[in-house]
Amino acid sequence: MHYFSCRKFILPLLLLGLTAAGQSTAAELTAGKAKAQAVCQTCHGVNGIATLQMAPNLSGQVEDYLIIQLKNYRAGKRQHAQMSIIAGMLTDEDIENVAKWYSSIKVTIELPE
Ligand code: HEC
Repeated sequence: MHYFSCRKFILPLLLLGLTAAGQSTAAELTAGKAKAQAVCQTCHGVNGIATLQMAPNLSGQVEDYLIIQLKNYRAGKRQHAQMSIIAGMLTDEDIENVAKWYSSIKVTIELPE
């Protein structure tokens, strides 16, 4: 009896947790895409393929790497005339969202012959 009531309680909680995690990822992606369109697009493209010779591609990049670089620019540990200013305008949440967006873009590679 005790076992059954316990299971009835825990399973819905578990499912609720999974659903909440899924929704937050979708919300992060939506917010990250919007930020990329508003701020990053001119140089990195909304798809993460750079539109300038001097800007790096961001699509498919490791999420943590993107977060660390943006925080480094913001903190002045990494400096660049444009990126330092841009990162200074981003909140922690913005950084997590854009990192989620660019890292979630799937990239396939083809080696030269
Ligand atoms: C005006 C052009 C411009 C805009 C707008 C811009 N960037 Fe950049 N970004 C650059 C350039 C140029 C670099 C290379 C800087 C360097 O050499 O450190 C760079 C570097 C970066 C890097 C480091 C990549 C690496 O490989 O280490 C990240 C991450 C990044 N940008 C993210 C963003 C995000 C996110 C946005 C929007 C919120 C954004 N950038 C907007 C031009 C831009």
